[in-house]
Amino acid sequence: MPDYKLMAKQIEALAGVCGDFLPLLSNASAVLNEGIERINWVGFYLIDNGSLLLGPFQGRPACVRIEIGKGVCGTAVREGRLLRVEDVHRFPGHIACDSASRSEIVLPLCSGGRIVGVLDIDSPEKGRFSAEDEEGLSIVVSSIEACADFSRLRL
Ligand code: SME
Repeated sequence: MPDYKLMAKQIEALAGVCGDFLPLLSNASAVLNEGIERINWVGFYLIDNGSLLLGPFQGRPACVRIEIGKGVCGTAVREGRLLRVEDVHRFPGHIACDSASRSEIVLPLCSGGRIVGVLDIDSPEKGRFSAEDEEGLSIVVSSIEACADFSRLRL
């Protein structure tokens, strides 16, 4: 199991250098990519003028804009909850950025009482993400929420 607590601590230490969301989420995507095995994409989509805009990530080039309610990411925002998808081929409206992706986990990111974006992770393995990953990634997201400055976003 990945050491999610260690990754959360590393992200908090990076936030001590600069909390602005752009460098912090860029480094957070690098920390997560190094720390989690069997994934092919990890990154962030951030609210920009009412839809999701591609943010810092590691992986293949991805879809730039996602409307709220569309795909796994937009659905997680509309429903305001974490989504863990065992098989993306069975998720109606899934947006395939990398045809190798088979499972996905999306966690909303909140600031000031509203959703400001999502953390999205894809895996080429079906059913890659467990309840333990869900729990560990929630710790990482809480750290980001506690120390990132999202004030530059155009919500
Ligand atoms: N699969 C996502 C789109 C983003 S890529 O996975 C990077 C979705 O359905 O929202």
